[in-house]
Amino acid sequence: MLEKRLEVKADGKKVYDIIIRDTFEGLAKELAPFGTEERKLCIVTERNVSSYYLNEVQEILEKVSARVDIFIFQEGEASKNLDTVSQLYRYLIQHEYDRKDMLVALGGGVVGDLTGFAAATYLRGIDFVQVPTSLLSQVDSSIGGKTGVDFQCYKNMVGAFYMPKLVYININTLKTLSEREFHSGLGEVIKHGLIRDKEYYNWIRENKEAIAEREPEAMAVMVEGSCRIKRAVVEEDPKEQGIRALLNFGHTFGHSIEKLMNFRLTHGECVGIGCILAASMSRKRNYISREEYDDIVRIFRYFDFPELPAELKCEEIVRETRHDKKMEHGSIKFILLKAVGEAAICRDVTEEEMLEVFEEPDSRTKSGGQA
Ligand SMILES: NC(=O)c1ccc[n+]([C@@H]2O[C@H](COP(=O)([O-])OP(=O)(O)OC[C@H]3O[C@@H](n4cnc5c(N)ncnc54)[C@H](O)[C@@H]3O)[C@@H](O)[C@H]2O)c1
Ligand SMILES: [Zn+2]
Repeated sequence: MLEKRLEVKADGKKVYDIIIRDTFEGLAKELAPFGTEERKLCIVTERNVSSYYLNEVQEILEKVSARVDIFIFQEGEASKNLDTVSQLYRYLIQHEYDRKDMLVALGGGVVGDLTGFAAATYLRGIDFVQVPTSLLSQVDSSIGGKTGVDFQCYKNMVGAFYMPKLVYININTLKTLSEREFHSGLGEVIKHGLIRDKEYYNWIRENKEAIAEREPEAMAVMVEGSCRIKRAVVEEDPKEQGIRALLNFGHTFGHSIEKLMNFRLTHGECVGIGCILAASMSRKRNYISREEYDDIVRIFRYFDFPELPAELKCEEIVRETRHDKKMEHGSIKFILLKAVGEAAICRDVTEEEMLEVFEEPDSRTKSGGQA
């Protein structure tokens, strides 16, 4: 039976635990110490995830709370907005939620970000728990306390830093994820290895078949490995003032591509393309070798990451990076690999250098290196 526990600290003190299990069963035991018997719990989820997991989670929560309510919205990024938040506020008011009650976010990053933001703002803050079900949310969005919603065409424009009371991961939920969403989460997983942990990156390469098959043992090692890396980074820099920017490796180009493709590619797919481009720039600067670069391309190709869409012009992609939130005083904070397993913030990347990357043969071909 799998049971891992990682503490997330701030200023040396524990703020919350990340629990990694292969069942939802442990949720009751983990929640009871928060005095849930005396509190109302509202499960916030979306239609798709609810069809798989709501009944089970609801039954378990009913063991520790006399009142469990459910708020369901339409799945997808298009719901991550203030309208859905308003509906949730209204639901909570109608059901007389007060400051001692609690929200439980059951779903992917969309549910987690939106629920966290509602929790941060409803009555100036009520407790919430993350129960992430997509790979991306398990290894990335549920950890670190960034919450928020999109505003009109601006992604994550409105939000708050607000910590959950608990992150409870059931890796078994990965089984029902579509191939595309699973691979999308792998974009962040590979990124974690590249920016921070060469050993972990090599483990991914050596276990790629087991990962692709979603073997439970591999999922457990992978989710824990990635959570450890994300935790280490957010603990060092909880409010994104410095080192947390390293998590944006692959994201400068990734966000541009995501926007220009009008979100027809998943976030993780765009991050994968962005990682290859940023790795290519690192190679051009001789920070990493040609061989290391080829290996990076190969691992993304193995997991079927898409090529850079042919319809996108490199000038457009580079122009779009000007809107990146990581822009400061006109210079972009570009993340490059100083080595495999070690990223650094570079402020001297020019638009010319960005454009040159697209001239590299691997930026558009399907099989990098000698795959
Ligand atoms: N807060 C942060 O630090 C942070 C970091 C990265 C991304 N994000 C945000 O996360 C969001 C993306 O997260 P996501 O990729 O999880 O998107 P998502 O929540 O839309 O989930 C992706 C799809 O997978 C489905 N799904 C989720 N779990 C499933 C399961 N176990 N089985 C079957 N289907 C399942 C969902 O219904 C959805 O269709 C974006 O809005 C992004 O901005 C936030
Ligand atoms: Zn990301």
